[in-house]
Amino acid sequence: MEVKDNVVIITGASSGIGLATAKLFAKNKSKVVLVARSKEKLDKLAVTLPNSLAIVCDMTNPHQIKKMIKKVLSNFGKIDVLINNAGQGYNSLLEEIELPKLRHIFDLDFVGPILAMQEVIPQMRKQGQGAIVNLSSGTTRMYLPGMSPYSSIKTALNVASHTSRLELAEDNIRVSLVYPYMTATDFEKNTLKSPRLSQSASENKDFGDLPPVDSPEKVAKMILKAVKTGKPEVFANPYLEKGELQV
Ligand SMILES: NC(=O)c1ccc[n+]([C@@H]2O[C@H](COP(=O)([O-])OP(=O)(O)OC[C@H]3O[C@@H](n4cnc5c(N)ncnc54)[C@H](OP(=O)(O)O)[C@@H]3O)[C@@H](O)[C@H]2O)c1
Repeated sequence: MEVKDNVVIITGASSGIGLATAKLFAKNKSKVVLVARSKEKLDKLAVTLPNSLAIVCDMTNPHQIKKMIKKVLSNFGKIDVLINNAGQGYNSLLEEIELPKLRHIFDLDFVGPILAMQEVIPQMRKQGQGAIVNLSSGTTRMYLPGMSPYSSIKTALNVASHTSRLELAEDNIRVSLVYPYMTATDFEKNTLKSPRLSQSASENKDFGDLPPVDSPEKVAKMILKAVKTGKPEVFANPYLEKGELQV
């Protein structure tokens, strides 16, 4: 799908990958809807992006998600693209997982994107087309000790995305997944960690021969590619493409 003049909702637009994505789509003349909790950051960004709209919304709150979509429709009258990017990590050994933290990232990384999809699908169907991009993670291509909460929830999002892609094909609504590799954002800082894992901060990890981290701008280009091509999966880094699940 072409993005010029199209209305593009980007959740988690206040920082990192979402921020870079908002700038890139605005540069391509989309009408970007900037969604996150940090009002000040969104308002400042909106001033710099023509035809943009900032909406404060907690993506773990079903009522706020409904209100946000209504506001987009009353402002622009249509929705062409939804980018479910808002997210947070939770690193814990399985035996130490704390239920409130697990439920929090389940609500943010899985339920929020599903609810947002449910809100936009009827509108996209009415319009005769649409594109939905869900941000997955390269960690779903591997089994990494200490990452089962986050990877499992992002894997659930993968399955829901692929399945809904089949369900929505005849409505000309393309559901795509973008898999970021390690990306230089505040993600690691914002990741919830169990006490044992917070002692071994990522700065001290030895990533051996792994490729260097990606920039958020690189991932933003992959998100634009997913919208333009409608491909089911786009990998931010070729390293992930060959990442076979191994036990
Ligand atoms: N960076 C990586 O290495 C990496 C790797 C793989 C996948 N990813 C995925 O890429 C996506 C973007 O992450 P990032 O790296 O850009 O992280 P980030 O810099 O921490 O940004 C996260 C964004 O999500 C928003 N957010 C967090 N909680 C929210 C909530 N309850 N409601 C609404 N918005 C919320 C934040 O805004 P507010 O705080 O203002 O609400 C922020 O804009 C995530 O889905 C993440 O899982 C990242």
